[in-house]
Amino acid sequence: MKKIEIIAHRGASAVCPENTMAAFERCLEQGATGIETDVQMTSDGRLVLIHDETLTRTTGAEGWVKDKTYEELRELDAGSWFNTEFAAECIPALEQLFGLIRGKNILLNLELKNGIVSYKGMEEKIVQVIRDWDLEQQVILSSFNHASLVRCKRLAPEIQTALLYMEKLYRPYDYAVKLEASALHPYKFAVTREEVAASIAQGVATHPFTVNDPEEMKAMIEMGVQGIITDVPDVLAALTAAH
Ligand code: G3P
Ligand code: CA
Repeated sequence: MKKIEIIAHRGASAVCPENTMAAFERCLEQGATGIETDVQMTSDGRLVLIHDETLTRTTGAEGWVKDKTYEELRELDAGSWFNTEFAAECIPALEQLFGLIRGKNILLNLELKNGIVSYKGMEEKIVQVIRDWDLEQQVILSSFNHASLVRCKRLAPEIQTALLYMEKLYRPYDYAVKLEASALHPYKFAVTREEVAASIAQGVATHPFTVNDPEEMKAMIEMGVQGIITDVPDVLAALTAAH
């Protein structure tokens, strides 16, 4: 079977609380070759890793990420909602994850969560932090906000971008080329064999999300995708190793 990127969705999110250092560390042990995570910004301009714009689901606290300072967020327990054994987990700063993956052959997919909340200066900030850590070649930025990705590309042509989308797009590979995106990150049911082939011809990769069923993984690999975003990187690693 062709080697594909095993991209752990929010880390090893099936067995650890999503987007915590425990989840990121565990997915590397499970054989992930890449990590997907969600980036938001605090009121004092720090980039932090949390999926929801609000704090309730994963910390039990009230309010929005955008309205809290970094210090306020760091007080919160981001693990107990999943299992009390993870009570020591905080909402990580982006730099903590950089520290984990720097020097390792791991792809890092940072999803800018700037669809519902418009974080002023987020693109400048993320580019600056990536450059400070010399991780331009290891990171791929994605977002459902394609204008934001175009902005990132203008600021940092050397950093790859990937277009997220839920529903089918018309000739998504042409759209990707136009927006100078390196990859398409479609919802799994928006992927077709013909579009994967056409994307390859245009030099555009396809990394569907979120694929957890082994049969669906096999179907995607057979279509020719270059990577899969999954909650169960161990399942995908075992499947690719067996073929
Ligand atoms: O990057 C793919 C996927 O993470 C997008 O959806 O809601 O899980 O961030 P969501
Ligand atoms: Ca995401």
